[in-house]
Amino acid sequence: MKTLAYIFKNNEEWIRKQLAYDPDYFHRMEEGQHPEFLWIACSDSRVLPNELAGLGAGQMFVHRNIANLVQYNDINLLSVMQYAVDVLKVKHVVVCGHYGCGGVQASMGNTDLGIIDIWIRQIRDLAEQFKEELAELKTEVERVNFLVEKNVLQQIKNLKELPVIKRAWHNKQELYLHAWVFDMATGRLVDLKQTEQEQPE
Ligand code: CO
Repeated sequence: MKTLAYIFKNNEEWIRKQLAYDPDYFHRMEEGQHPEFLWIACSDSRVLPNELAGLGAGQMFVHRNIANLVQYNDINLLSVMQYAVDVLKVKHVVVCGHYGCGGVQASMGNTDLGIIDIWIRQIRDLAEQFKEELAELKTEVERVNFLVEKNVLQQIKNLKELPVIKRAWHNKQELYLHAWVFDMATGRLVDLKQTEQEQPE
């Protein structure tokens, strides 16, 4: 078996760099976290939420799954949401998809991916909902990226239905929802301009 010693070597190197830059770094980390952001992203290994947003340790609470989905029966996501909103009191919840998402692409084909097909089922429904718009797009890349955007917007709608969000808004807690997409080809973060915030009642 190939040794993974280089990971531990990298770790030692990282510690050395962190301390050279900021001798107090690890002491501060011990004191707890006060992130303003909850970032919901795809598990794709090319997506590096902290790096692309320029946010360091302690600044971003993160949840990741295939195709950055908000599903009502996902106790993992629901627990993350509750902790982020009720305990950490994050101000911003970002759903950040990415162009070229394999999960979104898979939802447009007929391949048998086993349980992943169940996971991405709601994106198939979305593709059905937008089939006329999709049919007008010429390339596969354009169709995938169109659906990537629609998928992020749908997840914002799903978030708005969560009791934890409704309750926070009802209690006048400052909490904004943002629909963003990461473009891996350019590194650019794209704002879909669909920020949702507390509505006056
Ligand atoms: Co993806």
